[in-house]
Amino acid sequence: EFPESGEKKEQRLIVVSNRLPVTISKDANGEYHFKMSSGGLVSALSGCKKTMSFTWIGWPGKDIPMADRETVNRRLLEEYNCYPVYLSDEVADRHYNGFSNSILWPLFHYHPGEMNFDAAHWLAYREANMRFAEVVSNFCQSGDMVWVQDYHLMLLPMLLRSMISGESAQGEMVRKELGRVKEGVDDEVVKDVLGMQPGVASAPGEDGQDEGVEMLDDVEEEGEPLEIKTKTPPPQNRRPHFPRGLSTFQKQEMVAKEKGKDGIRIGFFLHTPFPSSEIYRVLPVRREILLGVLQCDLIGFHTYDYARHFLSSCTRILGLQTQPNGIEFEGRYAQVGTYPIGIEPMQFVEGLQQEKVQNRLKALETRFQGCKVIIGVDRLDYIKGIPQKLHALEVFLTQHPEWIGKVVLVQLAIPSRQDVEEYQNLRACVNELVGRINGRFGTVEFMPIHFLHKSVPFEELTAMYALADACLVTSTRDGMNLVAYEYISSQSKRHGSMVLSEFAGAAQSLNGSILINPWDVQSTADAIHAALEMGPEQRKSNWEKLFNYVSKYTAEAWGTTFVNELTRLSGLPPAGPAG
Ligand code: ADP
Ligand code: G6P
Repeated sequence: EFPESGEKKEQRLIVVSNRLPVTISKDANGEYHFKMSSGGLVSALSGCKKTMSFTWIGWPGKDIPMADRETVNRRLLEEYNCYPVYLSDEVADRHYNGFSNSILWPLFHYHPGEMNFDAAHWLAYREANMRFAEVVSNFCQSGDMVWVQDYHLMLLPMLLRSMISGESAQGEMVRKELGRVKEGVDDEVVKDVLGMQPGVASAPGEDGQDEGVEMLDDVEEEGEPLEIKTKTPPPQNRRPHFPRGLSTFQKQEMVAKEKGKDGIRIGFFLHTPFPSSEIYRVLPVRREILLGVLQCDLIGFHTYDYARHFLSSCTRILGLQTQPNGIEFEGRYAQVGTYPIGIEPMQFVEGLQQEKVQNRLKALETRFQGCKVIIGVDRLDYIKGIPQKLHALEVFLTQHPEWIGKVVLVQLAIPSRQDVEEYQNLRACVNELVGRINGRFGTVEFMPIHFLHKSVPFEELTAMYALADACLVTSTRDGMNLVAYEYISSQSKRHGSMVLSEFAGAAQSLNGSILINPWDVQSTADAIHAALEMGPEQRKSNWEKLFNYVSKYTAEAWGTTFVNELTRLSGLPPAGPAG
């Protein structure tokens, strides 16, 4: 059982994400070291920490030897309010590189061609989600709020709900089956569990319903999740006895009360786009993933379009009726809403005042004197449209040779998901393009593209943002894109132009940007030209609009709004419990 942590406050918030915000390393003497990261989610949750008792549950990024776990767990909890979910290297690999980043990530970003569906990845995804559910359910107490983050954990709400309401029979069944396949994928088991041939996607039916998977109407009254129905009968003695005529919700409440875990609210936020149902329906396990999150009280997306796509997928794939703001499912009401995330702009405004950053900025200004700078900052990911960005620069320089030698693109590319093949291919493609364009327009004194394939420290990043006359975001799809927010926050002096892809969630909010379609290379090249030639008054007025928005809709405001909404919800359908 979990030890208690932190100061006792009335409301407990448990945040669950794939990665813990702490990096663990071990030195040559066997000493463990911990480093808190400063990602967007960390700042977003800082507001909630002020008023709630707060714990973060997640994968620590590596397996820790059994003998060291007690010490590591204690330090994580006491010093960082974090608790780890350990996964074997194989499960972690198939869950993270496999199902999450080779299946869900490409599909959610409209790259079905890059999706490599593999039944073994799906099993590992379920096992990892199960491991998370076990840890979280052990930790949960009555009245807790659990906030699940992102596409790595889309089965967790369902698994958690069934565990805390006593219906763990399914959990055991899945575990048993997973146990059988651990040493390698057994084709018979895959067929059993998934109802399909291993490695082969089940063909969607004409009407958008899965074939070979049971329909929602066929689900037993107890509310057994569909995907877990297999030939193995559930252990009989685990199911509690209910009076006749109770709705699933009432049964869940009854069991939860008995276990002292009533009133646990579950929220889910997707940080990526949710694609149109026409793309989403490609996913072989499309029903299971939707059912996985429908057990939430609140489901959040960055934009209205993503929320709408989710609801229409529930209608088309599960045959469920939806409301504009949610969906009733098994006697519960899952509210669906739009919560665009932000950043803490003051971190950049204040960061820029630091002497070290100012000195670096001056040095860079001297280095690039007489030359305009365009900045690009992206994880090296195929959704970021880096090849499109490079092509547009090439077209711009071809059509405006007067700019050769007078503008540079500084492209910072943070290495990302390098075990996944598509990321390795992208790296080779980008290297080649950079070489070709630099070879074509460069001289001994001048290179049009400065490409850095590395993570840079915050001070360097801030100085680069402040230096740049324009920022170029060319994502072909992007949940939000916080780089645009960071650039705007660093531009109080220069008022540089923000050139932003209309396919990034940020385009819905950042009024004052030059919007582009990155697939349209000519218009992107024209936008680069417009950005560089824009007069100071126009730039100032654009920047003021943008900074106003970024300062108001901060990361902290996002976290607090979501959690406040979750606190308000009862899980009951608007018209009261069904049944
Ligand atoms: P994503 O979540 O897909 O990575 P975002 O634009 O929302 O995209 O967030 C990216 C984050 O990564 C930003 O905070 C940005 O500052 C950081 N980042 C990206 N590239 C680099 C880099 N080369 N060095 C340091 N930080 C980087
Ligand atoms: C996106 C995802 C996050 C993820 C981040 C970095 O923003 O929505 O969940 O953490 O990319 O990716 P990584 O694979 O390094 O965690």
